[in-house]
Amino acid sequence: MFQSLPEVTTPLIEQALQAQKNAYAPYSKFHVGSAIIDEAGQIHSGCNVENAAYPLGQCAEAGAISAMVLSGNKLIKHIVIIGPTTDFCPPCGGCRQKIAEFADGQTQIHMVKKSGEIKTVAFKELLPFSFGFEKTDD
Ligand code: THU
Repeated sequence: MFQSLPEVTTPLIEQALQAQKNAYAPYSKFHVGSAIIDEAGQIHSGCNVENAAYPLGQCAEAGAISAMVLSGNKLIKHIVIIGPTTDFCPPCGGCRQKIAEFADGQTQIHMVKKSGEIKTVAFKELLPFSFGFEKTDD
């Protein structure tokens, strides 16, 4: 069944905002929330989790991806990312590669400003010519 973009993004934004509240970011103070809807229509969210050993910190998108994989699903249809500033929070380079693992040619990335403004891009525009095995659909 066809769903309009706001029908898809509204629950994802709600879940990402909820996740952002639980972000553990005592070092950067940069609280991020993310939410995915997968091929089964299930929603998974994540927040960033930092560590005193800085490189061990994990981004919000990684948490949402782990939750999706745990549920048994493997395709990111849409992913929302919400940062704490007035600007958009585009996924970092490492997260783009993590998203690539579970994306297809239709995967959409929605960056949401605090104001609620949304910028949507196709994942393939964010990480063109990406590295991966067995990629035949994009
Ligand atoms: N962060 C994310 O959670 N996702 C991104 O795509 C960009 C950066 C987090 C990592 C770190 O905890 C904080 O934001 C500052 O970089």
